[in-house]
Amino acid sequence: MKVLVIGGGAREHALCRSLSLDPQVTALHCAPGNAGIAEVAELHPVDALDGAAVARLATELAAGLVIVGPEAPLVAGVADAVRDAGIPCFGPSREAAELEGSKAFAKDVMAAANVPTARSYVCTTPEQIDDALDAFGPPYVVKDDGLAAGKGVVVTPDLAAARAHALACGRVVIEEFLDGPEVSLFAITDGETVVPLQPAQDFKRALDGDEGPNTGGMGAYSPLPWADPKLVDEVMDSVLQPTVDELRRRGTPFSGLLYAGLAITGRGVRVIEFNARFGDPETQVVLARLRTPLAGVLLAAAQGDLAALPPLNWRDDAAVTVVVASHNYPDTPRTGDPIEGLADVAAQDAPDAYVLHAGTRLDGDTVVSAGGRVLSVTATGTDLTRARERAYAALGRIRLAGSQHRTDIARAAAEAARD
Ligand code: AMP
Ligand code: GLY
Repeated sequence: MKVLVIGGGAREHALCRSLSLDPQVTALHCAPGNAGIAEVAELHPVDALDGAAVARLATELAAGLVIVGPEAPLVAGVADAVRDAGIPCFGPSREAAELEGSKAFAKDVMAAANVPTARSYVCTTPEQIDDALDAFGPPYVVKDDGLAAGKGVVVTPDLAAARAHALACGRVVIEEFLDGPEVSLFAITDGETVVPLQPAQDFKRALDGDEGPNTGGMGAYSPLPWADPKLVDEVMDSVLQPTVDELRRRGTPFSGLLYAGLAITGRGVRVIEFNARFGDPETQVVLARLRTPLAGVLLAAAQGDLAALPPLNWRDDAAVTVVVASHNYPDTPRTGDPIEGLADVAAQDAPDAYVLHAGTRLDGDTVVSAGGRVLSVTATGTDLTRARERAYAALGRIRLAGSQHRTDIARAAAEAARD
């Protein structure tokens, strides 16, 4: 099978890595890709947001499966353009991707499907904003209604800061603060059958100890030794299946990857957000643990055949990924700095630890930084302690001027599992 992956971040590198190890995949293409993906796939300089251009490329390549990675092309209808060209596509339609594209739409779907989530108000005027902030009290949770690359959410005890963010957003969702550990649970669905993956936890704040601003994610691990073994079944029944059923009922079935961002509160599991695609950096650790070849699973989802798929096969190993971000991320990151040590990781740490590129590009023969999150180092091991030792050992071989990373990814979970 010839496969075309759309996107160019660490999530797409993780997808391409898994696909490159899948014997069913005879040719692997990616648009636009990055310097790391170029090692496993042929790159094409096609705009990921241009549905017509992506469909044309897929047709030219005679692709048997197209996978749309990031949310922006999904919300722009790129998966629809590919399907209209008669090519199986993994990724929801423009209408179904509104589950991520509009937080107000997601809240409406959850209310209709009786899915547990934070109480919320959708506000468009300063009066509504003040009333909603007043109704919930601190800490305030203020969310831009539209896509904001992980930066549209402000959680703060400071009323003035909450109000300023809300006023800057236009349409805004203000909601109840959810207290408790967060879990990301991904499910693959064809619009009817839902197949959950293994849960992961990501680290959204920039600095150790969950300090600093929200980011797109600074690291992740899986499995979650502290979580209730019944968690996945419970989320399937209370969140994932009802949501998929509700979207089908509305005539806009969701096929692709449904990402539930959850808070495990004292009163039970609550949905923090839905995404319409694989999460980054959780994908790096979830796919590191998936033994079932990936292409067949995604093709079954694209073709509505998931009910016939055998159960997924998982490694017992733990996986940890640590993101290396540029100087000044998540503000205005500095780019263009050379990245050294990549060959050392490939020589000394593979296959237990490896680098997945996010914002990188080739400058001549040199790999240089080209975005906020530059790369992530992913490692597996018999337990979280071993996996994180390997991830940080490999990370120590990489040199990028001014770069930053968290030193506490998976630390608390690894320590708790040892006690
Ligand atoms: P989102 O983009 O909706 O995932 O929000 C980004 C981050 O903000 C989440 O991962 C949480 O850490 C935090 N957050 C969002 N909504 C809430 C909430 N209702 N209560 C507490 N924290 C939240
Ligand atoms: N890990 C957060 C996200 O992908 O949105």
